[in-house]
Amino acid sequence: MKALNVPKSRYKQRREDLMDSVGDNGIVILSAASEKIRSRDTHFAFRQDSDLLYLSGFPEPEAVLVLVPGRAHGETILFCRERDPLREQWDGKRFGPEEAVTAFGLDDAFPITDIDDILPGLIEGRDQIYAHFGRDGDFDTRLMGWINRTRQRMYMGNPPPSELLDLGLLVNELRLFKDKDELKLMQRAADISVLAHEAAMRSVKAGMHEYELQAEIEHVFRKYNAVPAYTSIVGTGANACVLHYVTNQAKIAKSDLILIDAGAEYNGYAADITRTFPASGKFSKAQRQLHDIVWQANRAALNEVKIGATYDKQHEAAVATLTEGLLQLGLLKGKLEKNLQDMTYRKFYPHKTGHWIGLDVHDVGDYRIDNESRVLEEGMVFTIEPGLYIPTDADVDAKWRGIGIRIEDDIYVGADGPKVLTDALVRSANEIEEFMAQA
Ligand code: GLY
Ligand code: MN
Ligand code: MN
Repeated sequence: MKALNVPKSRYKQRREDLMDSVGDNGIVILSAASEKIRSRDTHFAFRQDSDLLYLSGFPEPEAVLVLVPGRAHGETILFCRERDPLREQWDGKRFGPEEAVTAFGLDDAFPITDIDDILPGLIEGRDQIYAHFGRDGDFDTRLMGWINRTRQRMYMGNPPPSELLDLGLLVNELRLFKDKDELKLMQRAADISVLAHEAAMRSVKAGMHEYELQAEIEHVFRKYNAVPAYTSIVGTGANACVLHYVTNQAKIAKSDLILIDAGAEYNGYAADITRTFPASGKFSKAQRQLHDIVWQANRAALNEVKIGATYDKQHEAAVATLTEGLLQLGLLKGKLEKNLQDMTYRKFYPHKTGHWIGLDVHDVGDYRIDNESRVLEEGMVFTIEPGLYIPTDADVDAKWRGIGIRIEDDIYVGADGPKVLTDALVRSANEIEEFMAQA
């Protein structure tokens, strides 16, 4: 697969869009993610802050992006690590300020070690500061230090900033609507994830361990230069009922259903797919009956995805379909309306039907505006992921107990209707059995 990247001009456009909403009285101060210790002197794999990725693509820690709309000497400024031959011998190449300017299309860049001297001067004269206050205590302290420096310099004639505002208010709304470069990256992440799920379905055998299927999945991710967007969930049998099961240690039995919730992150963008399939390649009658209901709920939810429809509609459709199915099979009793009103499905379906997805698997963006579900617009991307999880001690016929099923797809809201980014992966019980029979 050919490498995909976001063009420099697109980052510039995003910074300009953000600066348009900030206005000439404001300033944006955004820190890179910091490296996190995993064990003594080794770190977790570094993952850049999603907003910094969105606005610049700059990949290093110890950096701060500053946007100063309307500043005559340059509006986009990066503070980053200097080149350092000794450190680079150990840790790999750094851009350094000079190369960062050209590589990322910025107006200026300075060594991060000079930030205390330079940043207060950039803040001076600005009334509003947009930053992620409260996300990183150390950075907050430094930010307050820079702001206080401007207070000390009031005698120079500039009042200090009077408003500290959440950067999320502006950047989340921009990130919610995916541009065409983002859509390409998300389709790539979805395509890689589809191949990974196919590899797992092909290789499954009774007696394998969950972690061996995880290895099949993640082998495909790495093969195509992706990483897991979140810890892969591989739950066999009743482990499928644990929503965020990540232990992945159990042995797979022939009669088990296996739930895999795994998605690739490609160039920062996540996919999020769940499929549930039988270890033997054949669903039992009870497994198929429940799987059919979840599949119908997935389809019913997709049917509600239209520009102008409310986001909540797809959850409501999924819940109605699941509840109706549970009534038909006798796992719930009584009238549909009453069950919906009492939310009895929650015993077996305790989560919502989806979430925004993008640079973060649970991406940013408000779901409700003025306490009403927001309306779908072109460019939004979200998951549809109905499920049923019958606890091992549920008060239902024993044949249903310990079955956990989720079917999760990623949906782009396009001008001509929804585009299911993960459509290529078999989904219904028939499609899964057919696929596994050929494998
Ligand atoms: N993989 C997490 C989720 O489905 O939301
Ligand atoms: Mn999800
Ligand atoms: Mn998922």
